Parts: sequence; C-alpha cells; structure tokens
Amino acid sequence: MGNNDVPIMQSCIPLPIDDKQLLEVIEKAKDWAIMHGAAMRSKTDFNPDALQFAPFILTPSSFPRKEYEKAVNLQVTLNELMHAVAHDTEFLRETLKSTIKVDTFTGSLFEIYETTLKEGISQPFSLGLLRSDLMLESRCENEIKVRCSQASAYCCWKQVEINSIASGFGHLGPASRALQSYILRELGHGDKLVDLPANHALSGLCDAMVEAWKLQNRPHAIILFVIEDMTYNICDQRFHEFYIRETYPHIQVIRRSLTEIYEQGRLGPGGELLLGDLEASVIYFRAGYEPGHYHGSNEWSARLLMERSKAIKCPSIHYHLAGTKKVQQALAKPGILKRFINDEQKIHSISEIFTGLYSLDKHEHGEEAIKLALKNPERYVLKPQREGGGNNVYGEDIPAALEKMSEEERSAWILMERIFPPLSKGYMIRPGGKMPPEIVSLVSELGIFGAIIGTKEEIIYNKQVGHMLRTKLSSANEGGVAAGLGALDSPYLID
Ligand SMILES: Nc1ncnc2c1ncn2[C@@H]1O[C@H](COP(=O)(O)OP(=O)(O)O)[C@@H](O)[C@H]1O
Ligand SMILES: [Mg+2]
Repeated sequence: MGNNDVPIMQSCIPLPIDDKQLLEVIEKAKDWAIMHGAAMRSKTDFNPDALQFAPFILTPSSFPRKEYEKAVNLQVTLNELMHAVAHDTEFLRETLKSTIKVDTFTGSLFEIYETTLKEGISQPFSLGLLRSDLMLESRCENEIKVRCSQASAYCCWKQVEINSIASGFGHLGPASRALQSYILRELGHGDKLVDLPANHALSGLCDAMVEAWKLQNRPHAIILFVIEDMTYNICDQRFHEFYIRETYPHIQVIRRSLTEIYEQGRLGPGGELLLGDLEASVIYFRAGYEPGHYHGSNEWSARLLMERSKAIKCPSIHYHLAGTKKVQQALAKPGILKRFINDEQKIHSISEIFTGLYSLDKHEHGEEAIKLALKNPERYVLKPQREGGGNNVYGEDIPAALEKMSEEERSAWILMERIFPPLSKGYMIRPGGKMPPEIVSLVSELGIFGAIIGTKEEIIYNKQVGHMLRTKLSSANEGGVAAGLGALDSPYLID
C-alpha cells in the first residue's frame, strides 16, 4: 500500500507554523527538554558529563480517544494474561521447545528457568512492569469501526508486542507530555492541553517496585537496578531512582551491570542477594534482554545468581520468557486464550487486538506461512526472539532472509502481518537537524504500562499505570528513540 492511500489524521494545531515563530519556539523547547531531562547521552559523541535533548515531535500527534481508552482499559486484563502465561510451565516448555534448540540466547534463558524449577523457585512473587505496544490499523475490517480522522477513515488498534523486561519510557513518556504542553502554551494553544491525557507512568512503575520492596519486609534492603555497561538512555533510569529516593527516602537504590553483579554478588544464608554489605530485595532489570549484554559465562552466572536469590525480580525468568515473540504468536492461535483467562468478554477483547501471527515451524504449518510471506512480502514483518529494536526484517527483504535460513533456523522466527497506521503531519526536532524543519509524514506507536505483583496462585496488585507515544517518519520501518529513529511524542485525543 503506497502512502497515497493512507488516511491522514487531523493535526492538533494548524500547520505550518511561520518560520520566525517556529525557530523561536524550537530554541526554547530544546532548552526545556535538556533542562527537564527529556534527554539522552549522545551515542556518536559519548560523554558521561553531558546530555543532549532526545528527538521530539513539536506538537502532540492525534490519537482517537475511544481507541486510547480501550487500550488503557484492557491493560489490567493483559497483565493478568501475562501473569498466567508466565506461571504455566507446560505452555512455556511446549511453545519454546523448537525455538530454544536454534536460538542460543532464548535457550540460555530457558536453561536458567529449568535450573530454578529443578532447585525449587526461591521467590514465589514476581513483579511485572509491562508495556503493551500498539499501533492503529487504518485498514480495519472489524465490525466495530472507529472514526479516526476528519478524512473519515476507520481505525482500530493492534498489538505490536508486549514487553516484560526493561519496559522503558516511564520517565520519557510523562516528560514528553510536559514538553509538548510547554510548547503548545508558548504557541498560544494552551486550550489544547485538556485533550492530552494525564500520564503518571513514572510514579506508577516506581510505586509498584516499592510495593514489592514492602512485601519483602526487609527494612534495610535496597532496590537493585541492573544496567548496561554504558547507559545512553540515562534520564529514563535516573528519574526512576530520583523518584524513589525522594518519595521513599528510606529506600536506597543502587545500579550495577551484570559483570559487576558477577564480581560482587553472592547469596546469604537465607538466599538473600548480597552485594558487598548490601542486601537487594527487589531487582529491576534495565539490561539483560539482549545477547550483547552478556559478554560470557560471568554475566550468565550473575543472571542465575539473581534468579536463585529470594529477591523479587522484575522480571523473573519466567516473566522474561512469557514476553518472547514466540509466546505472543502462540497466544494468537485460535482457542488458546481460554487456557489463561476464564471470561468470554475478556477473551474477546484480547483476541481483537491480535493481527495475524504465524509460526514458521514445520510442525505448525510453517510452510503455509512461508508461502504467504513469499507471495506478498510487503504485508508482513519477520521477527526473531529479540528485544530492543533493529532486529526485524521487513517487506521485500523477507524472501531473501527466509531463503538463507534452514528449516530449523526458521522456528526461531515468527511472521506477523504488517500494521498500516494512519499518518499525521508534524515537525520532528532532532539534535543537529536542519533548521527550520520541514513538515513530515509521521506514524506513531502507543505503549501502555501495566504493573502487576503476584504468585502463581494469586495476584495481589494489578494496575494500568501510564503510557508513552513514540513517533517516527512514515518511511521508516522501526522507531526506537534510543536507537535513533523515533522521537518523543504524546497523544492528543480526538473524537
Ligand atoms: N506488525 C507490524 N507492523 C508494522 N510495524 C511493526 C510491526 N511489528 C513491529 N513493527 C515496528 O518495528 C518495531 C520493532 O518491533 P518490535 O516487535 O516492537 O520489536 P522490539 O522487541 O525490537 O522492540 C516496532 O516498534 C514497530 O515500529
Ligand atoms: Mg518493541
């Protein structure tokens, strides 16, 4: 489908903005962003002492209110689903069985899972800080159609993926709303702010960590953030730490890489995770989701050590596995959801958000999926079991990628129908970008945050806690902000 057929959503304020006003507001907005932590460390010119503003969209992108509300309201059910999936050993084993034979990374995670199962799970509680990512689909053929633009297109949202580890933007989500609120006011459009939904993602995620900490009842224990060797997306981690320190000054937060945890970590007599003199009772992973974070066996030992400890992990290993793309694909198979959810209405609401998801495993009609992909590659995305962006194969690159894989290798991938979102128009502001910027065509991806705490038997905490919006050029396949392609944004709700 060419861009010509795609509907364009109404913009929040009339565009274009005249050059003089545009340049003036951008200059202010860049400073606002840096000074309020809508920022990152530069990848090309890394300097731990400096920040650069994160790319942002000048004014919020439109999003249909009804679909936004539907997504917000569904989150606690998605949390419940993920919790049930994470605790279904048989399902995880069966679903990932072919994948772990060929995908060594998922295989290593699974080995840790099997080891802890054998030894006995040391901590029955899990903390899930999830983010369900979704895009509007502009070619909705469902009965329920939602008008999403003045050009009278009908859209409904579809899930891209659900993240169960290192779900970022708890700070950058709310910060984007604050930045764009400032910009709108400066442009004389303060009246638009009522349609920018409140966003308490940062406190929502951190309060859930603290809830887990309280559950442990270890007054001197700290919260451990597991971090990468180099952190570019630093604001989105430090603000979590600052929020906890400010709101709960009696709780200390420390940051350690997997290598440092290997060097400093050990288990206490009761299975406590000890780092020097400190005991960590809650572990929040912001690293460990991609092979590059494990330099060798030391980092894997660190992961196992944490899993063996009685600290509450976000995520515990089974939650991590429940967030794999292979599991997402398995959940979209007809009739599977009732294994996890016993409410027809909820099952219906969840199944509505799935697009076509296909296994490439020969035992699961993989050949048929391959035929679909070869015939109309532009309609699909090919995905491996990876997180963090930049790993998928799109459209015309799919046939060659499939041909290179052996039959076994294919079972580590899934095929997903491509979502074609409606476009919006706006200005993308990036460090070193051309000034004044031009109006560009954009597409957005909404993320809804959920927080859940529970054991296999019961859920004691389950909330929707906020959202984030990332926007990219409509010509780009992927839109990670940390990866450099996407930009901070927030939804402007339209009816
Ligand atoms: N089915 C799809 N249709 C359109 N774009 C997609 C689809 N799946 C993924 N993408 C794009 O690719 C990006 C990365 O895919 P995702 O499944 O989220 O993997 P990752 O775990 O690397 O974030 C998404 O943020 C989105 O921009
Ligand atoms: Mg993603």
